[in-house]
Amino acid sequence: MTRPAFWLRCEKKEFERRAALTPTTAKKLIDAGFQIIVERDEQRIFDDSEYEAVGCELVKNNSWPSAPKEIPIIGLKELPASTDPLPHSHIQFAHCYKNQAGWADILSRFDRGNGTLYDLEFLEDANGRRVAAFGFHAGFAGAAAGALALAAERRGEKLGQLNPYPNEEAMIEDVKKALGGSGKGVKALVIGALGRCGRGAVDLFKKIGLEDDDIIKWDMAETAKGGPFEEILDVDIFINCIYLSSKIPSFITRDTISAVGKNRRLTVVVDVSCDTTNPFNPIPIYTINTTFSEPTVRVDLPSELPPLSVISIDHLPTLLPRESSEQFSADLLPSLLEFPDRNTARIWTDAYKLFQKKLVSMDDFP
Ligand SMILES: NC(=O)c1ccc[n+]([C@@H]2O[C@H](COP(=O)([O-])OP(=O)(O)OC[C@H]3O[C@@H](n4cnc5c(N)ncnc54)[C@H](O)[C@@H]3O)[C@@H](O)[C@H]2O)c1
Repeated sequence: MTRPAFWLRCEKKEFERRAALTPTTAKKLIDAGFQIIVERDEQRIFDDSEYEAVGCELVKNNSWPSAPKEIPIIGLKELPASTDPLPHSHIQFAHCYKNQAGWADILSRFDRGNGTLYDLEFLEDANGRRVAAFGFHAGFAGAAAGALALAAERRGEKLGQLNPYPNEEAMIEDVKKALGGSGKGVKALVIGALGRCGRGAVDLFKKIGLEDDDIIKWDMAETAKGGPFEEILDVDIFINCIYLSSKIPSFITRDTISAVGKNRRLTVVVDVSCDTTNPFNPIPIYTINTTFSEPTVRVDLPSELPPLSVISIDHLPTLLPRESSEQFSADLLPSLLEFPDRNTARIWTDAYKLFQKKLVSMDDFP
């Protein structure tokens, strides 16, 4: 019997340094009898030698199109645009199930190649909860970016370009240094504090030295009274980490900001949830997603009021590629171990059924 295998492909998306399989999870799969083939990739945060050291077979960058058809290809982000048919099984985020731009073109590649897409965004446990997500490090990195923006505002400057950190310690040290050695005295409010992103944001604030009383943690119970909330205006940094699933009253508006006048404490808003274009966005004070090169956007307020910056970056975990990959890959591992039984294992049969449903929906596409 041949060994089950995964082929870890390179990532081609700009700035993407994360990996779906890390040397740690690759070793666990090898120990469980899998063959792990890894494309050499300079862009990846993990060195090729780290994979070699745990027994992976290294192959040429971007060579997956010529991989044997029965070997599933695993990656993280979208494949570069092309019209080539896809004959393999691909495990990845494809961003084509919610009618995103180009969705039908992507699906038709699988259709024409007779390949299968197992989309990582839709791998769910028996309770309908995603088995692996990058939320924790999105909140962690978002809180760090918020603290850096606060430090910049205090110097009368705008936050400059953000770059991925080699590890969590480097990020914490950088943020502490920007705040003069510690975050003590900074006050923050996190909404959605019980979720993945929210827990990450709270963790960063603790690690940079905020007092526990200065980290206000809200979730459903605290927002049940309905916004807008004056409490948001009375902290230095507000982090929104909710999972928006229906229309809710705004948490903060330009009117509530203007109403408190010049004595407002709130200096930075980090919208980790980034429901920027959603008509129900509960933070309707900005209209664009910000980027690593331009991390903040100013809220349009009367000129006599102190400035207020918003961070609305939608790929925050990329700032911590090593730790976010390790956590994601470890959460994915139990499902990967079941992949050889994909014709009967619920998680994979559900993902396959969803793929089939999306293929059929292409027929309704004009
Ligand atoms: N910006 C990024 O880079 C990035 C990365 C990952 C996830 N996200 C986004 O962050 C959001 C949260 O993701 P998650 O994985 O943490 O979700 P999650 O389901 O783990 O947590 C969401 C939390 O929000 C709470 N919540 C929902 N509605 C609320 C309300 N009205 N008031 C108060 N609390 C409320 C829930 O009770 C839960 O605790 C999602 O929209 C996700 O797409 C953004």
